Formats: sequence, structure tokens, C-alpha cells
Amino acid sequence: MSDHNQVEMAQMNYDKDRPAAANPVKVQDLSLRDGHQSLFATRGRTEDMIPVAERMDEIGFWAVEVWGGATFDTMHRFLGEDPWERLRTLKRYFKKTPFSMLLRGQNLVGYRNYADDVARLFVKKTVDNGLEVFRTFDALNDYRNFETVVPVIKECGAHFQGCICYTLTEARLGGEVYNLDYYIQKAKDLEDMGADSICIKDMAGLMSPYDAYELVKALKANVKPLIHLHSHFTSGMSPMAHLKAIEAGVDIIDTCMTPYAYRTSHAAIEPLVMSLLGTNRDTGFDIRRLAEINNILEREVLPKYKHLLDDTKVSMIDINVLLHQTPGGMLSNLVNQLREMDALDKIDEVYKELPRVRKELGQVPLVTPTSQIVGIQTVNNVLFDTKEERYKMVTAQVKDLCYGLYGKTSVPIDPVVQKKALKGYDRGEKPITCRPAEVLEPELEKAREQIGSLAMDDEDLILYALFPVTGKKYLLQKYGKEEVPDSLKPITLEDVEKQTAMIKKAKAGELIERTTAANIPEKSEYSRTFNVFVEGEYFEVGVDEVGGSPVITYAAPAPVAPVAAVPVPAAPAPSAKATAPVAPKPAPMAVAPAPAATSGTSVNAPMPGMIIKYEKNVGDAVSEGETVVVIEAMKMENALPATASGVVVAVNYKSGDSVAKGDVLAVIE
Ligand code: CO
Repeated sequence: MSDHNQVEMAQMNYDKDRPAAANPVKVQDLSLRDGHQSLFATRGRTEDMIPVAERMDEIGFWAVEVWGGATFDTMHRFLGEDPWERLRTLKRYFKKTPFSMLLRGQNLVGYRNYADDVARLFVKKTVDNGLEVFRTFDALNDYRNFETVVPVIKECGAHFQGCICYTLTEARLGGEVYNLDYYIQKAKDLEDMGADSICIKDMAGLMSPYDAYELVKALKANVKPLIHLHSHFTSGMSPMAHLKAIEAGVDIIDTCMTPYAYRTSHAAIEPLVMSLLGTNRDTGFDIRRLAEINNILEREVLPKYKHLLDDTKVSMIDINVLLHQTPGGMLSNLVNQLREMDALDKIDEVYKELPRVRKELGQVPLVTPTSQIVGIQTVNNVLFDTKEERYKMVTAQVKDLCYGLYGKTSVPIDPVVQKKALKGYDRGEKPITCRPAEVLEPELEKAREQIGSLAMDDEDLILYALFPVTGKKYLLQKYGKEEVPDSLKPITLEDVEKQTAMIKKAKAGELIERTTAANIPEKSEYSRTFNVFVEGEYFEVGVDEVGGSPVITYAAPAPVAPVAAVPVPAAPAPSAKATAPVAPKPAPMAVAPAPAATSGTSVNAPMPGMIIKYEKNVGDAVSEGETVVVIEAMKMENALPATASGVVVAVNYKSGDSVAKGDVLAVIE
């Protein structure tokens, strides 16, 4: 094979004069966590990591990041996989290279602060299952949120890597808040906490090469722990930032294997290896071994994920990041959210509102979960605010942030916004100033009681404690009490080949075969319907995403308000008043006219999402403005108020159900 020969040829020059470097750059590979999280919506399956695991173990990486961040959530929710099992499985293949994870401080691997008892057990069980390096960050850089997990990490003999979330308010390092002094002080704080290494976490790829140089130099001069740079490629600057950081003496760099590299992910390892070849910072890595891994990934693994790549853009670089200083993932979330709500035309308004909301909410760094909190609130403001009233729909998470539940913001939260957000807030209207988890009641025993014998061990219990709704759903599937939906099952390379052949045929106009009943896959609840026009002919096509459902389900916009409610019979007991049952998810073809309506006022889903819980049930009296139902959209909880006073006569869904924008969630009469 010709490409193989080229590698062989290169080998001769390359091995000959390659002295061992005096101070080799250490490298952490992120392909199996941040790589697929950044490029493929965290959908990487364990079975697709195994084919390269042993080879990756031979490279000499300082560590491989395989866990944490969004993996824990995505695995049980969309892949039908037990996150703990992944650690144990991969450990059988990685015998030498330490495992690292991204730990969101007191948020663990979720989106809110959990109680201390959950946090302690989580860290302990994570070490038990094979994890060694805890890359720990807090979205607000409030290290009081490390106070519970760090002693447990240390007691377990694991490596505590403390992160400083890198964020800017200006185009370059500096300004009133996020200047060099800020980062030096944060590094000193981490050193005082016993950090074994310090990571500059540039999640948005904002770091310019000369700022990287200045920052790394300053940190090396001021603190002792190893300095590790995590800089996403998104803006295109990270390979240059890497090189300048290496010149400034950075100890560890994060990269990905080529198929998982670039775009919103990280720079690839191979160009770095070649760039440093023969220098005093030579990685010492064998480029041929890396090429072998790339070959396997390219041929056997990536075809299964290609369809998840954001192919709406040809450009590899996101200029918006340079313009708006926001993480790429956050921007794509905003775009998706707007698209699902048929409001993509509002994107410019969102860009304009975003810095304003960020400032009002305490100029927080933008990283999970603050990026989502600021992002979704911005979308809510753009979509629902009126000229007279801002912050009309405040998410539960913004209320929590205003209360102090995430920690201390870099600058104080705007008092007007804070007051409005905390009006009627159930923990109290006066914000706290203590370490956030101090106000949290222990959660473990309650979770243990609730989940009962469905949790067979502590790992199951933690899964449930962190994700009560989806975690329980998963445990029911895991123990065979509920069937695993087809949408959660993996696809094979054969499936991919068949699809590619079909698409080829369709493009060539040869698609005349009719699918026989036997091989029609089951249509999932996430199926989307498209109108397709081919040379004057019209087809209605249902499209189901293969290998996992989209985060947000989609259906047609509901009949335009203010129509009278259309009660949908709730399973299992239909409302007695429901005289005009309609399908809960109308196909786009059947948008208008709405079926005959009964009287009553409906509470509609303002956005696609998932039902968390109903605060009111059929028969309950409600007054206007009281919370009827809580839905989760883009991982943020939104409490939906009663649209009128009266009695709830229909509750159309249950906890865990997916709903589309406009769906009638409840009816009040
Ligand atoms: Co990252």
C-alpha cells in the first residue's frame, strides 16, 4: 500500500538522529472523552474504543482522558451504556497509561452542585473503578467548590489536577477582571490546596499564542506544580498557542488523534510530534504507531459517527468565537435551540444579548454549566421578553446562580436581575455567601430509599442520585425491567454501508425498490418528518437518526395560541372531558386546522424538552402563575406557570416523556 510505504520511508531519517529530549513535552490524549464530546455529541461507544485501546497504551501518553464531562450523562441516556462499566472495560486494555477524567467540582458529572455525601462517594467509587487523574474545575473558579472532593482525591492516592477556567472579556488577556494577576492568584490558590498539577482550561479556544507564552511563563515563575494547557482548536489558534506555551516551558499539552481532532475539538498529536522532532522538547512518540491508530479509527470506527459531524459548515474554524469570546459548543447549542424553535433568524439578537446577560449574571466564565445557563437564559430573553419586561422566563438554574448556589461570581450579579430571579424562590429570597454545598441537605439516603432494590450497588445508586429521571430509566433497562429502545442500540459498519449505498442510489435517481415490511426499522418517537420535492413530485419522508436520538426532539409547531385547549387523553386515564383526542405529537402535515377544541386554557411547552415533574395533578386547584409542570430543555429546568386560575382537568404526560414545542402539557378549566 502506497501510504504505508511513505511511513516506512520516513522512518529511516526519523529514527537515525533522534536523541532523547532533555525535557520532553508530556501529552494527554483526549480522543476518548473531549474528542468525541466536541465533535460527535459525546456519542462514542465503548465498543469503538476497544480496537485502538491497546495501541494507544503503547504510545507513552502522560494520561488518556476517558471519562467525565458529558460522558456519564450521554452514555446512560442515549447509548444504553453503564458509565462505570466503560472504566472497568477500558482498564483491561490500558495497562500502563493512567486514566484521567473531567470532574466538574461539586457538580461532579452533572449540571448542579450535589450534596457532600454524594460527592465523596462519587470520587471514592471512581477511584475504585480505575481512575487516576482528577482534572477538577469549577465554572466560576470558586475553589470552595473543590473543598469536598479534593481531600477524598488525595486520600485515595489519586492525582489532583486543579483547573483555572480561561475566559476573557476583551480580545486579549487583560482588562479589569480576567488579567494576568487573576490567573496567577488562582494558580497560587490551587497550589495551596495541594494541586499536583494546574491546568489552564481554555474551553473556547480563546487563548492567543503570545498570551499563552506570557501566562505560562508567569505561572511557571510563581507556582511549583506541573502546568498543563488545555486549549480547544475552535478559533484556530491552539496549535500556535501550544508551540508558544512549549517555548515558555509548559509541562503537559492536550491533543487528540487526528480523526477526533480540530474543529471544536483539539489539535492533533501527529503534527506536534513532527514539529518537536529532534528538539529538547521532543515527545519521543513513534509517528508510525500513531498512524496505525489513525488507520483503524478512520476505517473501522469513524464511519459510524460521521453523520454526527456538524456538516452545516465547510469552515473548520469558528470565527464567531473570536468575535464573541464564547465556547463553540455553546454557540452550536444556541443554534440548535433556536432551530428547534423555528427561530434561527434571531441568532444575531442572541449574539447581542449574550454579553449583556453574562455581565448581569456576574461576568461568569463560560464553561459547562455556566455556558448553558447564560446561553439558555439569553435565548429565553430573546424569545420571550417584551419591551416592558426583561427576564420574563427565568430558568431554575439562573435562580440558583442568583441565590449563590453555584458559588461566587467574578463580579456581583446585577441586583435588579437578582431580585427578580429570587422572587418566590423556594430556598429564600436572600442570597447566600457561604460555600454553596453547605446549604444542601445530604442526598444519598433519600436517593437510596427512592430507588430501592433497583440499585444493586453504589455505582447504580450514584447514577440515580445524579440523574434521577434518566438514571432510573436506564436502571430499568439495565436490569431487564424495561426494553432497551432500538434508538439506543449501536449500528454496525454493515448498516453504514447499506445506508451509503441507498443514498448513492437515491442520488443517482435509482431508488425504485420498495422496502419490504420485514426490513423496515421501527419508527422511533424521535422521528422527524420532512417534505421532499423531487422534480415536481412530492414525498413525505420520516427521518430517524441512526445510532442515537437527538438531544432535543422536534415536531411541528402547535396550533397558534390563543386557541382553546385541546386536551389530550392522558395515559393511562383519559380526562373525562377530553372529547377531541388528538395525537400528542401532530405530524407536520396535520398542523391546521386544529381539531375541535373543548373549553379550558392549556399550558403549552414553549420549547422542546423532557418532562421533569408535574407540580399539579388532575383535580388540583391552581392560581395563575403557580408552577404546573417543570420541563427540561437543553439541560436547563424551566418551571411553567398556570396560564389561568382554575382546576387542572388534564395532565397529558408523565415524568421522563419527551415533548415538542407547543405540546399541550396540561389543561386548566
Ligand atoms: Co475541553
